[in-house]
Amino acid sequence: MASPVEQQRETRDDVDDIELELLLEGIYRRYGFDFREYAPASLRRRVWRRAHAEGLRTISALQDKLLHDPSCMERLLLDLSINVTAMFRDPTFYVAFREKVVPLLRTYPFTRIWVAGCSTGEEVYSLAILLQEEGVYDRTRIYATDINESVLERARSGVFPLDKMREYTQNYIKAGGERAFSEYYLAKYDGAQFQRSLVENVVFAQHNLVSDRSFNEFNVIVCRNVMIYFDRALQVHVHRLFYESLMTFGVLALGAKESIRFSPHEQSFEDLDAHERLYKKVR
Ligand SMILES: C[S@@+](CC[C@H](N)C(=O)[O-])C[C@H]1O[C@@H](n2cnc3c(N)ncnc32)[C@H](O)[C@@H]1O
Repeated sequence: MASPVEQQRETRDDVDDIELELLLEGIYRRYGFDFREYAPASLRRRVWRRAHAEGLRTISALQDKLLHDPSCMERLLLDLSINVTAMFRDPTFYVAFREKVVPLLRTYPFTRIWVAGCSTGEEVYSLAILLQEEGVYDRTRIYATDINESVLERARSGVFPLDKMREYTQNYIKAGGERAFSEYYLAKYDGAQFQRSLVENVVFAQHNLVSDRSFNEFNVIVCRNVMIYFDRALQVHVHRLFYESLMTFGVLALGAKESIRFSPHEQSFEDLDAHERLYKKVR
């Protein structure tokens, strides 16, 4: 039999679960952001962190504040949608992209690429640099989307921390870059302002992978380090969205941490690069 202390803890956890469920339902109904199927452990941690940062002692108190104060929702959104990113992150991904995806892009007169969950844009600028170097940027349009408008604002500005440039230069070289990386930006105070020409063919827009529909037919969809926060059912939902948004022989790029395997859409894709999780839609 559970001791009184254990019983008390169990009751507290049960109440916590109810409060979290109600909070997520409330956010969905008030703001339309659907976190109801996000993996619960990290969600709970982040919600508690926000509650404490707001000086609140229960999740219900946070719910009350969230429903009445949109700026609190903005802050929670930043906490929930972990925005960590980097230029030429996982450089081998870009090597594989150069070798296996670019030749496919060359076979089309015009191509559309969707970067879903682009965060503050480092991945988009990296792809733009790669496509420019390969001579296919001029006939490419990149749609870069994220659930979070504040990260998109930063992406549009094209200014990244200057103290990151050493790391990004290393990544760029490992990714197969052969120019001087500093050609692409101007140092301004503590920021590196990237060339505007890199985003000439980029449209940054808010899009929620959970609740919004497909908005085009793409040659390539890149979605890395986004679905790791989704539970199985939500991952399958997003796989379907990507399947429906890709043209036949289009490429899905998930990056090394995610996979299309064991999803109902597995049979529709062939490996283009098994390690880098580049898939080609074949049916
Ligand atoms: C860890 S960042 C990944 C950034 C970039 N793709 C990379 O790999 O460096 C995850 C991004 O996914 C976004 N995100 C989370 N849930 C989303 C959703 N439902 N719809 C669209 N974007 C979402 C977050 O706002 C965040 O910017």
